Formats: sequence, structure tokens, C-alpha cells
Amino acid sequence: MVSYIDELKAQMAKDVARVTKVTEDSALKPQEAKSTQVSLDSVTKANTAKVEVNVADQKLDNLKDLFITPPKTTGEIKINNLVSKPSNESIKNMMDDIKDEKEADSLINKWESTGKLVTKYGDAEIYRVPGESLLYYKTSIPKPSPSQKLIINTLKEATTRLVTTDPYKIRDENQRQNLYYQKILEILENAPEINVPKHLFDFYAKAVVTEMVGFGMIDSLIHDNKLEEIMIIGPKKPTYVYHKDYGMMYTNIIFYTDEEVQDIIDKIARILGRRVDISSPLLDARLPDGSRVNATIPPASIDGSTITIRKFREDPYTIVDLINFGTLNLETAAFLWCCVEGFGAKPANAIISGGTGSGKTTLLNVLANFIPDSNRVLTIEDTAELKLPIKHVIRFEGRPPGLEGTGELTLEVLVKNTLRMRPDRVIVGEIRSAEASTLFTAMNTGHDGCMGTLHANSARETLVRITSPPMEVPLMMLAGLDFIIVEKRINTAKGQVRRITEIAEISGVYENSPQANIIFRWNPQTDNLERTEQPIVYFDIIKTYTKNTDSDIRANLEKRISILNDLVKRNIRSIDDVSKAIQENYAKDKMNM
Ligand SMILES: Nc1ncnc2c1ncn2[C@@H]1O[C@H](COP(=O)(O)OP(=O)(O)O)[C@@H](O)[C@H]1O
Ligand SMILES: [Mg+2]
Repeated sequence: MVSYIDELKAQMAKDVARVTKVTEDSALKPQEAKSTQVSLDSVTKANTAKVEVNVADQKLDNLKDLFITPPKTTGEIKINNLVSKPSNESIKNMMDDIKDEKEADSLINKWESTGKLVTKYGDAEIYRVPGESLLYYKTSIPKPSPSQKLIINTLKEATTRLVTTDPYKIRDENQRQNLYYQKILEILENAPEINVPKHLFDFYAKAVVTEMVGFGMIDSLIHDNKLEEIMIIGPKKPTYVYHKDYGMMYTNIIFYTDEEVQDIIDKIARILGRRVDISSPLLDARLPDGSRVNATIPPASIDGSTITIRKFREDPYTIVDLINFGTLNLETAAFLWCCVEGFGAKPANAIISGGTGSGKTTLLNVLANFIPDSNRVLTIEDTAELKLPIKHVIRFEGRPPGLEGTGELTLEVLVKNTLRMRPDRVIVGEIRSAEASTLFTAMNTGHDGCMGTLHANSARETLVRITSPPMEVPLMMLAGLDFIIVEKRINTAKGQVRRITEIAEISGVYENSPQANIIFRWNPQTDNLERTEQPIVYFDIIKTYTKNTDSDIRANLEKRISILNDLVKRNIRSIDDVSKAIQENYAKDKMNM
């Protein structure tokens, strides 16, 4: 069996040769290329040979990163870009700003008059514009005339005076907006001097509500459930959205000044009771509806303020959805179900790996639904995203340091604490640094069924990340991990899809190399997650823990395939229904015991 670390070293040698070649080509000093080699090599030995790491590590930290994501062809281009500066022409194109409202209007006009309507729903219209690689998303934006703006401002002032309680004490967004809507109607009815005809009451009330307790210009985007992400990349540039079916699109929402963007950031910060200013120009938090928001202002983001909102799905995906999407097939779903449940004996420890937005958190949520109701589940996250219909669950959320630099709650501290709470399961949303060691210690000391996600592009890379700084889990401890599940976002002719691309089993650590075998691998030709030739050691472990024979295990898998198949066929997909079916099955098993 070729160990991962051996394969890794071979790959590394190739990568180093490539990096060296590129650096030589681009007139970097040869010594620097050489020190790369030392530093790259030290990555794998991070745990066994600390001394070597220290010598070369500081020198080319960036290249180490390149290695961790092995530089394929694109990597080479990146390096070339670093050395040969892009021409002035391309700099200008990249930075082309939309000058003012007039230019924006004419651009929008062009997109809409030349574009071909692809689809239309609710407030949204989606166009294909000739010469543009992305689709164009148009939504209705309130565009009051200057005289209407005056009335809106007067109404805003009056409302502020009348509503004295803090609007954000009302947690429910609809309730909050309703209260304001009613108040504004009252003002309009009782203030004839504002002189608004009755048929425009609704227009003004809505405009004031979105400005005061909504998200202003991006309000309609927030309410489009087909959008996964909303991205404001600065003033004078279109806002982008990531659509469930159409992927990345640019929109007709353009901010002209940075103040307009900061205005929305302030609204969000107010909801959260936080502040974003020069002394703390970054905000990463969760909105009351569960959406994740990240905001940055200059000088952190050089070209202006930005907002990234990862929208929360009210109706979370389930295993049935993922099977329908083709993210995994029935067989693999049944297999993962068995692993999470652990044949009532040894639930597997698993890490879900993938890039940003590859669907890791979603898959973690889906798999956690297989945890039997009888378990005590503790979840730890930086920003709470998981939504588990499990009865006995306690959720923890980390916290950054406050303005005085104190009060930080790290995931490490939280994981340590959960281990004192007699958990059956520990779930860490995103494993990033020191908490990894604590989690692996748990896995190695009899805490089964631990799960988490991690940012890496393959099983192999996952192992390197886990054992390198800042996680630095000792190699021997990898033995506590049973599976690495890798998910990817893949571009196809049909658009973007998410696929589990490999499932690797860690069958132990011998002579300082983790033995990791790919047991399922996605075949792009057939678009199917296929079983490889590698035996599954986990089943042997199950046989030593339980009375199960091979044929019992097979029967168990088949039973689950048929339960899942039945759910798919009957289109039972909501989290409550799927969860009920899973738990009922456990109850039935118990009755038969
Ligand atoms: N298997 C899937 N198929 C289609 N869309 C998915 C799938 N998994 C996740 N998504 C969507 O992709 C987005 C990112 O998912 P998420 O799980 O948060 O990714 P990650 O945790 O890897 O950053 C979400 O909007 C989610 O609804
Ligand atoms: Mg995530």
C-alpha cells in the first residue's frame, strides 16, 4: 500500500521542480527557489522533524501555501503574474468604475435592451447579455424621484420620533417591518400637510420600511430565496449574486458612494449590536435569520466597503435533496448513514473537506440528521449555521474579542468544555486551528461519532492541513479519524453542481504515515460516485465490536438503500419528514432487539 505521505512527497518533488522552473524562467534568484524546496519538504515532516521546519519555514511561507494547493497550470500563471506585472491596459479594465448614476442608467439600459430574457419570477428577471459571460439579474429597486425622496425623509424623521423602542428588540423581521408599516400609514393618514394621495400610501410606507428596518437597496435580494449569496464588492460596481440555478450573476444594484454601502453595514451592525469603524474594519457575524454576513470597510478593503451575505435556507437540504441533486447516490448515502449511526456500536469519526461554498456545512447538517435521537449532541461553531432536528442538542458559538481585546471565546476553549459535558457526539462546524488537537484527542480517547468540516481540496490535502500549523495534530492521532469526505463545486454544461468526489478511509498510522485509502471516487465520465477496489476496514472494526457478519452488514446497507429509495420515490424531502423516517427506523430496530 502506498502511503499518502509517500505519494505526497512524490507530488511535492514534482511541484518543487515546477516551481523552480517557473521561478528560474521569471528571473527570480535561484537560491530562493532552493530554499522553497527545503521549506516545502519540511511541511510533511512537520510532526517528526520540528528542527528542519524552523530553519526554512519563514522564508517562503507563501510558496508553502502554493504547495498545499499544488500549483497546477493555474498556479504557474499566478506565479508568472507575480513577476511580470500586468500591463497598464489590463489594470485599467479591471478597475473600470461606473462614474455616476447617469452612466449606470445607460449601462443598465444597454443590458436590458440587448439582453435576452432567460427567466422571470417574483421581482427577478434574468437576462443573457451578448458579450457577457455572466448572466444579468434584474430586480425591482425603489428609485424615488428627488421630490419623493424629500417626503420619504420627512416620514423617516416622524417615524423615528414616534417609535421609541429599539426596533431590533423585535426579533421577527416581519413583525418589525409590520409595526413600522402600520406606524407610517398612521402618520400619512394624520398628516394632511405632507399631501400624499391615498393610492401612494403603500409605495411610501414600503419605501420607508425598507430604508429604516430593511436592508435598503438589497432588500429584494434578501427576500429572493433562490439566491445563495449576495456580494457587494464596493461602490461604483454592480452588486453580484450567486443563484441556486444560474450561479454567479451581476445585478442592476449599483452603489455610487461608499457611504451608501456603509449605510447598509451600519444597519446590519446595529441589528447585531456591533460596530464597524476604522479601529475594527471587519465584521463577521450571523443575522437573526441565520444568514452569515461579512462586512469590510476601508482601509481593510482598499477599493471601498464590501458586504458578503451567505443566505440561510429556511428549509434546509436533506439527504433526499442531495441524492436528487446527484451530490451522492443511494448506495453511498446508505453507507454514510451506517457510518454515522455506527451499527449501534462504533459511530465513525469523519471530516468533510472541500473549498468555500462546496457544500460542506450542508453535508454536515445532512449527515448529522442520521444521529439517533437517544444521543446527546454538542455543536461548536464560529457562526452557528447548523440546523439539527435532533431532540437533545446544545449549541455553542465562538466569539471574537471585544473592542478592548478581551472576552474572546475560541473554538478550542468551547471544544474543551464540551468534553466535560459528557457528550455522545461533538460536532465542530469548521475546524481551523488549535481546536483540531482537542477534537483529535477526543477521537482518540473514545469519543466516537465526532464530525466537522475543514477547508481542503482532497483527502490528501486534508491530512497535510491537519498535521501542519496552525492545527498541528500529531501524526499518530490521525488514527482516531475514520473517514474524510471530499465535496466539490463543479462546473458542468448544466451549470454548477456539487459532488462528493472522494471518500477516503484512514485505516491507521504506520511508520509515521497515515494509511488513507480512497474507497469511493467520483467518476466524471459517468457522473457517479463509484466504489473502488479498496477494502473497507471500518466494516472489520464493526465486526469486532458487534455480532454483525458480512451478510448482516450487507443486509443493513440494503435496508437503508431501500428506505432512502422509498423517500426519494415518494418525494419526502423536508427535514422534519426525513428525520422522522430515520428516527422511526431506529425505534423499530430497538423493538426488534
Ligand atoms: N449538494 C448541494 N447541491 C446544491 N446546492 C448545495 C449543495 N450543498 C450546499 N448547497 C448550497 O451551496 C451553498 C454553500 O453551501 P455550504 O454548505 O454553506 O458550503 P460550505 O460550508 O462548503 O462553504 C449554500 O447556499 C447551499 O444551499
Ligand atoms: Mg461552511
